[in-house]
Amino acid sequence: MIDPFGRSVTYLRVSVTDRCDFRCQYCMAEDMTFLPKAEILSLEELDRLCSAFVRFGIRKLRLTGGEPLVRKNVMGLIESLSRHLATGDLDELTLTTNGTQLRKYAADLTRLGIKRINVSCDTLDPERFAAITRWGRFEQVLDGLAAAKQAGLEVKINAVALRGTNEDEFDRLIEWCGAEGFDLTLIETMPLGEISEHRIDQYLPLSLVRERLRERWTLTDIDYRSSGPARYVRIEETGRRLGFITPLTHNFCESCNRVRLTCAGRLYMCLGQDDEADLRTPLRASESDEPLIAAIHEAIGRKPKGHDFVIDRGRDRPAVARHMSLTGG
Ligand code: 5AD
Ligand code: SF4
Repeated sequence: MIDPFGRSVTYLRVSVTDRCDFRCQYCMAEDMTFLPKAEILSLEELDRLCSAFVRFGIRKLRLTGGEPLVRKNVMGLIESLSRHLATGDLDELTLTTNGTQLRKYAADLTRLGIKRINVSCDTLDPERFAAITRWGRFEQVLDGLAAAKQAGLEVKINAVALRGTNEDEFDRLIEWCGAEGFDLTLIETMPLGEISEHRIDQYLPLSLVRERLRERWTLTDIDYRSSGPARYVRIEETGRRLGFITPLTHNFCESCNRVRLTCAGRLYMCLGQDDEADLRTPLRASESDEPLIAAIHEAIGRKPKGHDFVIDRGRDRPAVARHMSLTGG
């Protein structure tokens, strides 16, 4: 699948549910309305859709949410999708999780061929953690991370950089990741969805964070790419990688290889644009995959050149109306 700008689309992110057991301030409003059941694809439908994408050249599949591991019988879907790893049609099956269900599932994930996972964790302070996630308990995530380690999963921690909230903690996060053997990626807040707080108050440019970190750590640029938009450095003192995802201060669209599927079967060609394609209708219209395949090709043909995120005071509405929990980042 090659898009109009010559980018080969090889990475599909699939949100398997829009629900979550947290309510992170930058991601959700406290009183979220979720999609009605009838709109949500069944696990069989998700499998059929993902498998069609794999046939058309997707090499990496990431399950996201909401929180993917709160979807009922999600392990059945993962087990089914893992057949594409066995055949070699897929290079990687992975997930982004908030970590709360890892105690229960880490061993199964390893058994099914999952090698690495991303776990979101913005702070190491239990009180701050409760404030940021509104509903989360830090101890549960720590325990989940311990289970992931025991199961041999490689872990990358994702932390959203939040002005006035966790900006004094990056040194500690780096030390902790070094001690635990985790990589770390810092993410700038993206203007997705109405939330109660003002984005501009949360926004912390990573260019600034990087300058501060240089005072304490030796950061060496490396050309490691994880097929994502993060730019990585190695922290010489810990030997671990540190990634920066900077959608606002740096445009990463030129090398974008991904599309995102929601749990209602809508395909978003860009995280920062509203344009989407309905794949559920062609999926449900026929037992043959032909209408679906035509719709996928048509959608890839509309993949835009890039996003136009801006966070500024003059604009009090998000660049994109949908919440991050619909497409999972
Ligand atoms: N901006 C940046 N990152 C976000 N995430 C959720 N909402 C936002 C936002 N508005 C992060 C989560 C998780 C990843 C999937 O996206 O913390 O790490
Ligand atoms: Fe849930 Fe992740 Fe959103 Fe937090 S950021 S509410 S863990 S989906």
